[in-house]
Amino acid sequence: MSASVVPEFAIPPMFLDASTPVFFDEGLDTWNVFAYRDVARVLKNYDDFGMEYGDPDIHPSYGAMWFRDPPRHTHLRALTDDTFHLAAVRDLTPTVDRVVDGLLNKVAPAGRADLLADLAQPLPALVICEILGLDFAESMRFLGWLREEHHLLTLGDFSGKPEMMAALAELLRSRRDSRRPGVINDLLSAHEAGYIVDGQPLSERDLLGYVYMLLSASFGATTTAIGNYLLAIVQHDLWKQLRDEPGLIPGAIEESLRWDTPMPALRTRAKVAVTIGGQHIQAGQYVTGWMSAANRDPGEFDQPTRFDIHRRPNRHLSFGRGVHYCLGAELGRLEMKVLTERLLQRVSLPIGLDPAVPAQRTFGLLHGVAQGALVFPPAI
Ligand code: HEM
Repeated sequence: MSASVVPEFAIPPMFLDASTPVFFDEGLDTWNVFAYRDVARVLKNYDDFGMEYGDPDIHPSYGAMWFRDPPRHTHLRALTDDTFHLAAVRDLTPTVDRVVDGLLNKVAPAGRADLLADLAQPLPALVICEILGLDFAESMRFLGWLREEHHLLTLGDFSGKPEMMAALAELLRSRRDSRRPGVINDLLSAHEAGYIVDGQPLSERDLLGYVYMLLSASFGATTTAIGNYLLAIVQHDLWKQLRDEPGLIPGAIEESLRWDTPMPALRTRAKVAVTIGGQHIQAGQYVTGWMSAANRDPGEFDQPTRFDIHRRPNRHLSFGRGVHYCLGAELGRLEMKVLTERLLQRVSLPIGLDPAVPAQRTFGLLHGVAQGALVFPPAI
């Protein structure tokens, strides 16, 4: 049950070191930026750094808002912004409660929970499916495919399985005839009403890219965030403190997002010639902002290598910054909060790690737990 079975954050130090100079990586064909100020500038300044480097004709997800700049991005985002807004997400608390309880019903009596299979994967998956209006069997099929994509190493591999895209297209077709409440229904209605995106009506391909993006963005990042968070709480022996003072839970969530950045980097492309850290970057070159490094920049964070759940302010960049700021940030936070509260209500301490399954990590587009299991006294 000791936290020491968890290996230390096992990635090349350059990705964590904000003092690393801006440099060009020939292998990945991108400039890399590490300091907090520079990463925030790259993420925020869409006039200089754009996201439109993927071809929507190759894959519909490249036409979705995460890979589009304003004004197209603005019009696409307006379609779902209200659903994921803080107030609307608070209304989802009973849904998240129900999903979490269902998961805990299975693991609490067993005294053991696989970090991924029992908690971090099904929780965001089941919640986003409820929001979209997918049923359980449908959602499990999509999640199987998305799980495979989880292990991608570069954005270039990010293509979405053809089988998954075909199944999504079929789903949208069938939903036209038999409607169900949820975001998919809202998107279909916008399509039928001729919603205009940057001068063009929202297309079927746009719908496909949109739903794929919502599934992929919510599932991948949140699974990673939950796994990293649970691991950090065990590693820093915080369960008792969080149980005694639940008001500390939001601070613990934010600190784990900073500490162990689920999506370590974002790639943009320079639209104009720019200078960062004394380096001249030409228009058309890729520029990757390392949020994992920025999140440990001593210029922004006091004692950045200290895990401090009382840290205020904690302006980490783990949800990005600027117009692309994570659509699901409040939802992700809610899922982590409800999971912590319910777990602590239903399970006795100590909660530790199963030494038989040493926690291992992945490093790629997402950086998180590859395996690990919590153990605790079985609930009677
Ligand atoms: C704690 C879990 C999560 C983390 C760490 C995370 C992280 C991120 C990051 C880093 C970005 C890119 C921001 C940028 O480009 O500046 C992003 C964008 C996005 N996220 Fe999340 N995310 C999480 C949960 C979710 C959830 C639950 C959803 C469900 C709707 C979601 C949907 C999106 C979408 C649609 C975008 C693109 C937004 C845009 O381009 O305007 N994310 N997320």
